[in-house]
Amino acid sequence: MASAVRTSSGRCSTPSYAVLPRTVTLPSIYQAALNDLRICAYAGRHCAPYRRSSIRHGVSFTTWRMRSLGTMISCMTPSELVTERLRLRRWGRADRKPFAELNADPKVMEYYPEPLGRAASDAMVDTIEACFEERGFGLWAVEVTEAGDSTSDPPFAGYVGLWPATFEAPFTPAVEVGWRLAHRYWGRGYATEAGRAVLADGFGRLELDEIVSFTAAVNARSRRAMMKLGMTSSAADDFDHPSLPEGHRLRPHVLYRLSHTRGPRFHPVTP
Ligand SMILES: CC(C)(COP(=O)(O)OP(=O)(O)OC[C@H]1O[C@@H](n2cnc3c(N)ncnc32)[C@H](O)[C@@H]1OP(=O)(O)O)[C@@H](O)C(=O)NCCC(=O)NCCS
Repeated sequence: MASAVRTSSGRCSTPSYAVLPRTVTLPSIYQAALNDLRICAYAGRHCAPYRRSSIRHGVSFTTWRMRSLGTMISCMTPSELVTERLRLRRWGRADRKPFAELNADPKVMEYYPEPLGRAASDAMVDTIEACFEERGFGLWAVEVTEAGDSTSDPPFAGYVGLWPATFEAPFTPAVEVGWRLAHRYWGRGYATEAGRAVLADGFGRLELDEIVSFTAAVNARSRRAMMKLGMTSSAADDFDHPSLPEGHRLRPHVLYRLSHTRGPRFHPVTP
């Protein structure tokens, strides 16, 4: 399924790619953002150099300037991913209430340790937005754009996106694809449709080698979405989630992997 990436033109008037020095490639910026050590190694903690050429009085000048890493990352992060029936976009204030509602729904939260209250739900939105700013990827707010069964259905459906997995496990650090949708939107193929666009962005723009997904072994619905995306699991990758106590029903986890060679192709579409 084709997906479109739209870049926020208002935030950066020049194409970021053009101002980067030859030795720094776009993917290396993102890989580096995943790993602070690597970004420090080439450009210092907060800045990266770029070259600006100008012609004054008929004479060409070339100067080197420092662009903040945060500015560069926000220039390169698309403002939305568009699929046939969905818009994956950054979070707005109006999303907080319906997000808190789905986080409080025991059905949605069946495979999480516990439902979230309003404060924890809002804090999660803040963390997600900070991740977009710092790393150039995150969990997108999913908006349904196709005509719904009911006009009272709010367009905000939940999230699907990429997230850094940093806890202690044999496969970390890694980037995972994850999802959480309001119950009324389940079973329509939205998680897999959005997941496909997110994977294409991860393997295309971010040039990740591998994207993983994991869940409690008993979460059959989520596992099915992973399989539909072409991800595969192996018993050798099964693990116990370290943040859950021994004997907890959700502690045994399964890991699914997808490498860039088998991932969905990136189909840029002119907006
Ligand atoms: C997991 C989740 C995102 C799936 O969303 P969705 O839009 O319904 O997913 P899709 O429709 O794209 O695909 C789900 C697949 O699971 C199948 N499925 C549904 N219930 C199932 C079950 N109990 N056992 C096995 N498969 C099941 C569906 O039939 C569908 O497969 P199909 O298209 O071959 O029929 C959604 O259920 C959700 O938000 N769950 C709560 C949050 C959660 O558990 N997140 C994952 C944490 S890791």
